[in-house]
Amino acid sequence: MNTTVHAERRARVARALGPQGIAIVPTAPERPRNRDSDHLYRHDSYFYYLTGFSEPNAWLVLTGDGQSTLFCQPKDLEREIWDGYRLGPEAAPASLGVQAAHSVAELDAVLPKLLENRDAVWYPFAIHDGLESQVGGWLAKVRGRVRYGALCPQDQRDLCAVLDEMRLVKDAHELALMREASRISARAHVRAMQASARMLREGRDVREYHLDAELMHEFRMGGSQAPAYGSIVAAGPNACVLHYRADKAPVRAGELVLIDAGCELDGYASDITRTFPADGRFTGPQRALYELVLASQEAAVAATRSGARFNDPHDATVKVLAQGMLDLGLLDRGKVGGVDDVIEQRAYFQFYMHRTGHWLGMDVHDCGSYVEPTEVGQVSERKDPLSGETIKNRPSRILRPGMVLTIEPGLYVRPADGVPEQFHHIGIRIEDDAVVTEGGCELITRDVPVAPDAIEALMRG
Ligand code: GLY
Ligand code: MN
Ligand code: MN
Repeated sequence: MNTTVHAERRARVARALGPQGIAIVPTAPERPRNRDSDHLYRHDSYFYYLTGFSEPNAWLVLTGDGQSTLFCQPKDLEREIWDGYRLGPEAAPASLGVQAAHSVAELDAVLPKLLENRDAVWYPFAIHDGLESQVGGWLAKVRGRVRYGALCPQDQRDLCAVLDEMRLVKDAHELALMREASRISARAHVRAMQASARMLREGRDVREYHLDAELMHEFRMGGSQAPAYGSIVAAGPNACVLHYRADKAPVRAGELVLIDAGCELDGYASDITRTFPADGRFTGPQRALYELVLASQEAAVAATRSGARFNDPHDATVKVLAQGMLDLGLLDRGKVGGVDDVIEQRAYFQFYMHRTGHWLGMDVHDCGSYVEPTEVGQVSERKDPLSGETIKNRPSRILRPGMVLTIEPGLYVRPADGVPEQFHHIGIRIEDDAVVTEGGCELITRDVPVAPDAIEALMRG
């Protein structure tokens, strides 16, 4: 394993702790599904970011002087016969670049000693059930030794504050993995689109799960460990259900299919949505709505660059969609007024009710503050026209090179009075992953096309 990148990250954290600080980072627990079957194991992203180590039952302890100590599962031939290879504490320093390693069975005995004479203990707040009380137990042991001259840490600090800022700007190692995850996911989308058209041409009974199987095939053939989130394969009206999953509904010629799916590769997520005609040919109303969503995405892409705000792509999207809703008759000018009124009154919310993006990284909705840290005190208030609530706004995050976000506008048309029937039940989303650059952004998911003609062409193939 390339240990340098993780060692550099640990050194950055150590500097943030201060010379007398100490940080405790557990990995994720194993989660039983039933009896002796567990859910598929997934490490904790913070822990993996600092170690590259994906075994369960492991902890990392960092001190302000730059020392790292790993607690991990001990070698155990019987357990390894059942559950697989364990690195073990003896091999951990050479393999992971940590300075010391112990069996995880020694955690309760060793941690109070490591906490002695430190001024602050840092750990991720509100991530791991029970961690706060575990830390409390170790601190109680240190306090029991104060009459022998031991000092007990007086501050508890949230390590997420440090790690979220680091994870928000991706390094070269991370960007390489995210580009590869995106390439695999793009191939999976192409494969699912082509399978849909081919199976319908062959007169087969096509179901959402068939297309899900095509995605999964390409993910695993590309070396991905698992989907980065539950894949959405939504045929026809199901596309209007935002958190739909790949189920068993028929995929019918003449209807659209919305697929929101991305693989995870070596701990990094990709997140792509494409909407395509099941049989490879857009109808007129489908194409009209699709072109509107695509135009709104282009506006959002143009608004994504270093120095812009996180909210800028969303605002650009809403402007285009709101105008389009009026032009296509989804909204009645006589009732809602002009484009500024549609935005001001949030009338567009009837058809576009989510944000245009989120941070992407190890987690699909990745960590990182959406508020600009240097402007946190600048609070403005506004009354939300739909809920009537008073909302406190803080200036949104200024984008910097190396930040990665999704750009995912959509339109979801449920039947309602005054909504032209030709658009009923059409749900469209187009989602790409963007790396912020100095002058703009790089879309890393465009190996699967978005232009309607290009989608039709590849589905003929
Ligand atoms: N796939 C989750 C999302 O797009 O946010
Ligand atoms: Mn997304
Ligand atoms: Mn998505």
